[in-house]
Amino acid sequence: MSSATGPVVDAEYVAEIERARRDLRALIASKSCAPIMLRLAWHDAGTYDKNTNTGGPDGSIRFPEELRHAANAGLKIAVDLLEPIKQKHPKITYADLYQLAGVVAVEVTGGPTIDFVPGRRDSSVAIEEGRLPDAKQGASHLREVFYRMGLTDKDIVALSGGHTLGKARPDRSGFDGAWTKDPLKFDNSYFVELLKGDSNGLLKLPTDKVLVEDTDFRRFVELYAKDEDAFFKDYAESHKKLSELGFTPS
Ligand code: HEM
Repeated sequence: MSSATGPVVDAEYVAEIERARRDLRALIASKSCAPIMLRLAWHDAGTYDKNTNTGGPDGSIRFPEELRHAANAGLKIAVDLLEPIKQKHPKITYADLYQLAGVVAVEVTGGPTIDFVPGRRDSSVAIEEGRLPDAKQGASHLREVFYRMGLTDKDIVALSGGHTLGKARPDRSGFDGAWTKDPLKFDNSYFVELLKGDSNGLLKLPTDKVLVEDTDFRRFVELYAKDEDAFFKDYAESHKKLSELGFTPS
């Protein structure tokens, strides 16, 4: 359950968000931690269920119980890196801070600017396990999970482009390696590599591969591989939707 009301978004709150944004830019640059910050934002938001209006970007991933979910392996590192910024800007909710970190991670690695609207309230409890996608499954599972959030096929493909950043680690997910040759640069190379198939030595999860196997997904992969501007535009829209699931700005 969440507290009844969100933070009061007055001029001072907005000014504090801008100060935190500067601290996040510096943190992400000095620690090269953009990938894990993006994954944290996505895993806090991606638990949303539109039918029950539960989960979503509510800061609940900070609770040890939720961090212990198999899908969240390794994300305590990101939560701990952000705690000093929370302490410095206590007014800002965890929910806002985690989504702001995701937006800044995309921006400082060369990705599109994503509109950020503050005011998310913090949940006081962890969400139950099992709402995030399982990388070993196929197209119907991906649709089931993202449609539950109220997202579309286009959102699924555009947001999967987040794998332009970072890598998988055997001790966390059991998978190994990066999706692109430059995992600290946000560009459309995830889609370019996806269309090359298995031959290039880069990582492809089963849930990445289905994006080229399923014809409805594939048309977006082909568009984004040849037109980075189209990818950036759609990514920025889909990321904003993800970051605002269940949230009505006041
Ligand atoms: C990493 C699965 C969607 C961003 C990973 C890892 C897995 C995974 C297994 C490796 C974790 C590790 O070993 O540390 C999935 C599945 C998705 C999905 C099944 C369903 C479509 C997304 C989305 C985003 C995203 C929507 C962001 C918009 C990332 C990033 C990393 C990552 C940035 C790298 C983290 C790091 O380097 O520390 N994902 N993911 N993923 N994911 Fe996803």
